[in-house]
Amino acid sequence: MDLIVNGAHHQVESSLDRPLLWVLRDELDLTGAKYGCGEGQCGACTILLDGVALRSCLTPLRAAQGKEITTVEGLEKNGTLHPLQEAFIEHDAMQCGYCTAGMLMSSAGLLKRKPDPAVDEIKSALQGNLCRCGTYPRIVEAVRMAARNGGKHA
Ligand code: FES
Ligand code: FES
Repeated sequence: MDLIVNGAHHQVESSLDRPLLWVLRDELDLTGAKYGCGEGQCGACTILLDGVALRSCLTPLRAAQGKEITTVEGLEKNGTLHPLQEAFIEHDAMQCGYCTAGMLMSSAGLLKRKPDPAVDEIKSALQGNLCRCGTYPRIVEAVRMAARNGGKHA
């Protein structure tokens, strides 16, 4: 099957039932999306499918047919970090970093549909993303900063 990931076409031969998370990690070597729970509960595996954030651990390969996948590796463009990445660094919005890719991708999905989200909307969009290090306040601040800096366009 032809898979479009971060703007590039890839041929993959997995079962169509295989979760996208494993296709991305094992076949395409895109290890930014993390395995946390495998049950849709932690958000560590979040990617965008046609700009919509979803859990790649629960999404079968067949769901990506003809659609654009964006992983955390695709946020940076031509050596320039995405405003969300810049803001996460600026606000030190990570400790161990295990949740970070998922947080970034859920936030990217939010900014696409809501370019200037209120704090409550950010919290709501990220409520399915767990951070065992408790960096939530800094993450929310980072998303606000990215929104101010044009994160919706990136
Ligand atoms: S690994 Fe997918 S939601 Fe936890
Ligand atoms: S920074 Fe460690 S889980 Fe979020």
